[in-house]
Amino acid sequence: MKTYKYFQRIFLIGFSGSGKTSIGQKLAAALDYAFIDTDTLFEALQGCTLGEFFEQYGEAIFRKKEYEILKSTLLTESVVIATGGGTPCYADSLSLMLNSGHVLYLKATPKMLYDRLANARNVRPLISDKSGLELLEYIYDVLQEREPLYNQAHSTIDASNLKSSKAIEYLSRWLVKKGKWWTI
Ligand code: S3P
Repeated sequence: MKTYKYFQRIFLIGFSGSGKTSIGQKLAAALDYAFIDTDTLFEALQGCTLGEFFEQYGEAIFRKKEYEILKSTLLTESVVIATGGGTPCYADSLSLMLNSGHVLYLKATPKMLYDRLANARNVRPLISDKSGLELLEYIYDVLQEREPLYNQAHSTIDASNLKSSKAIEYLSRWLVKKGKWWTI
């Protein structure tokens, strides 16, 4: 019997502020997939905000726990997973994702990231205490460091082109077409 199979998991990667959570939710709805945001899952499992966690335990412990959370998402199927901006940059997280689903990089310019992050600093511990200029510098520096990893995604999409519901619909149809293969 022939049946269709689709990407079991779609991982959204990219810098903070590139829209992984909001686009991920819409994409999951369009594909009729479940949705997981690893930061939200982290907070639910730890019973505190990311800010509180960073303050108490620091970034190194956050990265270890973030990695465990990413691994736990591999037990789920038919799911869109929005990752944290640093998730692909630690341990073998990127290859885990590349081998377990379709990895989509939401690419955004530093200007777009700055415009979005300038008003959303308080919930992001790595930038919460930065001035405007420091934030801009952080975006340029960290983006340059992380882009070689983000660029290893299976596909890259311009995050600024995903504002309308039509664009999400188009992306979901493209993913279905790209991910479809036959099993016998
Ligand atoms: C981080 C990004 C955040 C969150 C944590 C660390 C990073 O996620 O995981 O604050 O290293 O860039 P978003 O990309 O959803 O902001």
